[in-house]
Amino acid sequence: MIITIDGPAAAGKGTLSSKLAEKYGLAYFDTGMVYRAVGLQLLKNNVDLSDIATAEKRAEELTFPKMMELSKDRDFRSAEGGHAASVVSSYPGVRARLLDMQKNFAKNPVFADGTPANGAIYDGRDTGTVICPQAEVKIFVTASSEVRAKRRYDEFIAKGMSADYNQVLADVKARDERDANRKDAPMKPADDAVILDTSDMSIEEVFNKAVEIVEAKIK
Ligand code: DC
Repeated sequence: MIITIDGPAAAGKGTLSSKLAEKYGLAYFDTGMVYRAVGLQLLKNNVDLSDIATAEKRAEELTFPKMMELSKDRDFRSAEGGHAASVVSSYPGVRARLLDMQKNFAKNPVFADGTPANGAIYDGRDTGTVICPQAEVKIFVTASSEVRAKRRYDEFIAKGMSADYNQVLADVKARDERDANRKDAPMKPADDAVILDTSDMSIEEVFNKAVEIVEAKIK
C-alpha cells in the first residue's frame, strides 16, 4: 500500500505520517528531506541560493545515504534550512534531478535499517500528484497559517532553538507563497485526495480521522 500525505509547511504531516507508518508497517519517506539536503549543502559552503547550476549539481549527486548523513546536521531542520530548501525546490532542474530517487522508493520501500517493507508512506507537497499518482490513499493536510506558525514555533523552542513567533509566521506565509506558485509543480491537492483541515484538531484526532480515511479507501 502507498499512502501520500501532502500539504503546506508545519501542517502536521510528519507527525501524522510517522504514526500511520507505525500502524500499517510502512516505510516512511519525508520528501522535504531531498530539498533540505540540497539547500543545506549550499548554505554550508557559502554558495548563494540563486546559484541554480550548483544546486542542480548537488541534486544530481544526491543519494539516500548522503541525505541521511546530512540530516544529522543541526541546521537541517532550522528556519534557514527550511528557507534554503524552499528556494532550491522552486528550480525545475533541481526537482527533475530528484524525481527518480523519490519515485523509486515506492518500487522498493525500505525501513531506516534497510529491511524491506510492504509499502510506503510519503510526505511532501507533490507526492500525491507527481511522485506517486498511483497511491491508494491520498490525504492533503492543512491548517491556518497562524496555527502552523505556532506549531513550528513550539517545535523550535522544544529543540532549544531561539525563535520569534511573528518571524516564524512571516516565514510560513512566504514559504506557502513560494511552494504554491512554483511553475512546474505547484503545491495542490490531487483530485482524488481527501482534504483534512487540522486547525482545531489534536494530534490524536488527526490520527484517528486519517485512519478512518485509510480504512474507507482500502475496504
Ligand atoms: O516539508 P519541508 O518543510 O521539510 O519541506 C521543505 C521545502 O521543500 C518546502 O518549502 C518545499 C519543498 N518541498 C517540495 O517542493 N516538494 C516536496 N514534495 C517536499 C518539499
